[in-house]
Amino acid sequence: MASFLIRGGARLKGTIEISGSKNSSLPILAATLMSDEKCRLHGVPRLSDIDSMIKLLEVLGCHVVRHEPKDASLLDGPVLNGPLDVEVRDSHNYMADYEIVKTMRASISVLGPLLAKRGHAVCSLPGGCAIGDRPIDLHIRGLQKLGAQFHIEGGNIVGEVRGRLKGCSMFLGGPQGPTVLGTINVMCAATLAEGKTHVVGAACEPEVVDCAELLIKMGAHIKGQGTAEIYIEGVDALHGAEHHVIPDRIECGTFMLAAAITNGELLLKNGNLDHLVALTDRLDEVGVRTESVNGMIHVSSSRRLYPVDMTTQPYPGFPTDLQAQLMALLCVADGFSVITERIYPDRFMHVSELNRMGARVRKEGPTAIVQGMKELQGTTVMASDLRASAALVLAGLAARGTTRIDRVYHIDRGYEKIEQKLAAVGAQIERVAEVKAAA
Ligand code: EPU
Repeated sequence: MASFLIRGGARLKGTIEISGSKNSSLPILAATLMSDEKCRLHGVPRLSDIDSMIKLLEVLGCHVVRHEPKDASLLDGPVLNGPLDVEVRDSHNYMADYEIVKTMRASISVLGPLLAKRGHAVCSLPGGCAIGDRPIDLHIRGLQKLGAQFHIEGGNIVGEVRGRLKGCSMFLGGPQGPTVLGTINVMCAATLAEGKTHVVGAACEPEVVDCAELLIKMGAHIKGQGTAEIYIEGVDALHGAEHHVIPDRIECGTFMLAAAITNGELLLKNGNLDHLVALTDRLDEVGVRTESVNGMIHVSSSRRLYPVDMTTQPYPGFPTDLQAQLMALLCVADGFSVITERIYPDRFMHVSELNRMGARVRKEGPTAIVQGMKELQGTTVMASDLRASAALVLAGLAARGTTRIDRVYHIDRGYEKIEQKLAAVGAQIERVAEVKAAA
């Protein structure tokens, strides 16, 4: 297992190219299962979660080819990716087995496409997760409303459609608000259903819109994506399409916070500030300036960072996927901040690791109270989940001395070439083989 060694204190300066969105690419890849022809996707990042989804598509009979990039990047950072083609060659299998699902919960995204296109789907039930309980009841409820029948068998959710799915009206909200992948699952399935579907309480995240845009290019009739009400009129078949995945707003936000925590100045190429309004609002109060310059995002930070309060919410609210990284920044702000997690109330694994670096964070239920300190100290910490790991990288960049982050495979699930991108703008970061502690 690999670790990161980060020598803190370097001010980041330069340009970073933002990759295509992981959370858009995953359900978009699953949606290609419904196409009768080849789909070409641009901007799909090289990440271990994407590799898992590609493996799943291959098991489900798809031929997947990743092309090499044509042009070298004009920037100093690493060269990103060429297009990826997906073509369904064999539609017999409909089983997403445990070996893949256990590594990646987003495997559940194949449920809607498989039921709509193949009439059957077997998906191993995703198990526990480091960020808390993550049920799939809303996915099931929505697909049931469209006429699918489900039962549990040997740890699998087994779904079946007699005839064709049928459009209907449904409410898809849950106790924590809307579901992103649940909305996408239902939207995908409804594109091939008979008649009209009206989803109320839909997730409004840009990733839902991106998947809808691909489906529309494939011939689907969808309206209202990006709002809480989506209207879908079913079609008989979907054809091939070419699509550019949106930039990864969470990766972009993480680099914005990296500029802020190092008192640095970054230009982010290919980012979309419109997707990050809640973050820029908080950063503005902290004293970090963000603006669009020649189509890029310019981030610069003042020496003094002010504390802020923040509550995570569904889009367009502050994203839960940036909560840990903002907390790392607030650990070195000048005063007390209060962070409340409304999407995953247990998503605080980073708190104890940040405290090991000298932070003062106290957790009370779904809230964390952060007392800003003058500085953090480098030490050995452990990555526990994807975004918690990103928070530790940010803390390490700002800390005095050297920070070693173990188990960085969590980070490789969601940040493409992160150490290369950071090193290109001045960070002192390297990937090393994990040092085993003496018994
Ligand atoms: N929920 C239910 N029932 C369901 C589904 C969700 O109660 O059937 C609850 C969840 O427990 C949570 C809330 O609804 O409290 C929102 O969960 P959602 O379904 O929206 O999450 P998701 O679609 O499974 C995606 C991202 C997550 C991100 C969330 C919230 C992907 C692959 N994953 O998950 O990303 O945190 O939306 O924005 O798109 C990450 O990238 O680190 C990550 C965890």
